[in-house]
Amino acid sequence: MLILAIETSCDETSAAVVRDGAEVLSNVISSQVEFHKKYGGIVPELAARKHIEVITPVIQEAMERSGVGFKEIDAVAVTYGPGLVGSLIVGLCAAKAIAWSLGKPLIGVNHLEGHIYANFLNSKSEILNTKQIPNQKSEIPNFPFICLLVSGGHTMIILVEGHGKYKTLGRTRDDAAGEAFDKVARFLGLGYPGGPIIDKLAKEGNPKAIRFTRPMPEGYDFSFSGIKTAVVNYVNKLSVVSCSPKGELLVNLAASFQQAVVDVLVEKSLRAAKELNCRSVALAGGVSANSLLRSQLQQRGKEEGLAVHIPPFEYCTDNAAMIGCAAYHKKPSDFTLAPIASARI
Ligand code: KG4
Ligand code: ZN
Repeated sequence: MLILAIETSCDETSAAVVRDGAEVLSNVISSQVEFHKKYGGIVPELAARKHIEVITPVIQEAMERSGVGFKEIDAVAVTYGPGLVGSLIVGLCAAKAIAWSLGKPLIGVNHLEGHIYANFLNSKSEILNTKQIPNQKSEIPNFPFICLLVSGGHTMIILVEGHGKYKTLGRTRDDAAGEAFDKVARFLGLGYPGGPIIDKLAKEGNPKAIRFTRPMPEGYDFSFSGIKTAVVNYVNKLSVVSCSPKGELLVNLAASFQQAVVDVLVEKSLRAAKELNCRSVALAGGVSANSLLRSQLQQRGKEEGLAVHIPPFEYCTDNAAMIGCAAYHKKPSDFTLAPIASARI
């Protein structure tokens, strides 16, 4: 089954052709990140207009690279939410027009579900620790598994019991993990998006230099605004001379902040796996590109005898391949499918 998938929920315009929910024939991503940098974040109306400019060439490029003709496409998948409504409409209109003109089904996909399915793409994804686990032969996570979904807008621990069967065990009570990275980076004058910048700076710093709080709300919930405020307070207490952190102080701040966020994410995920008798933990969402999160989850997972699944970098941040994978396991949607800003899974 060949699926043409389209993703426009935020600031990436992406189209992909995916075979049988696993094999990525093409995955084209046009990012607006450089364009929005001057605003320090995404401007929704401008994002929607940028999607309109590039959606057609992005889809054409994905079709060309896949080597597949439109007539061979069996279904068209598209993200319907959560996301920026103006941006979602662009992808939805394109997908509906193509599906309608080809006489093929339209499959609406929840963006968060798409991130989880990045773990099912047949690629060189990093599968770790599987040797230590009996009966764990497949390269995709075995059900049931725990998924730590960490993106710019969401931080969730999800029990994935089967295809389309999810139980949200916990979520953030305030800032999402990616949002905390972005806000701290903005406060430190580092630019946008903050995650990759802090990740890079942290490599030069000492994660033990400053002990930031590690909030552990009850159950599997998270809270990151306290860590963010702790960074702000720490910097504000510095003398006037050094109040714009630079050099060693800056890299130590980045490393210590990142360590606090990662400690909380990893410990809660592993605890969920243990308490719900899961043998596998999977990462999903933009923050799963974070190098410390990847290495610490692998290391701690190994110690606990768990298989840890981490999508390759290109499928961690927003992309259409993950949408094509999720769509393979879903039923077709009605053509009245509408965008939803805050859809839950
Ligand atoms: O999933 P995503 O691409 O978009 C949303 O659906 O939100 O996630 C974007 C988020 C941003 O907050 C960005 O700062 C964060 O992922 N991010 C990272 C890294 N790369 C992207 N956070 C920490 N470390 C990274 N290397
Ligand atoms: Zn996303």
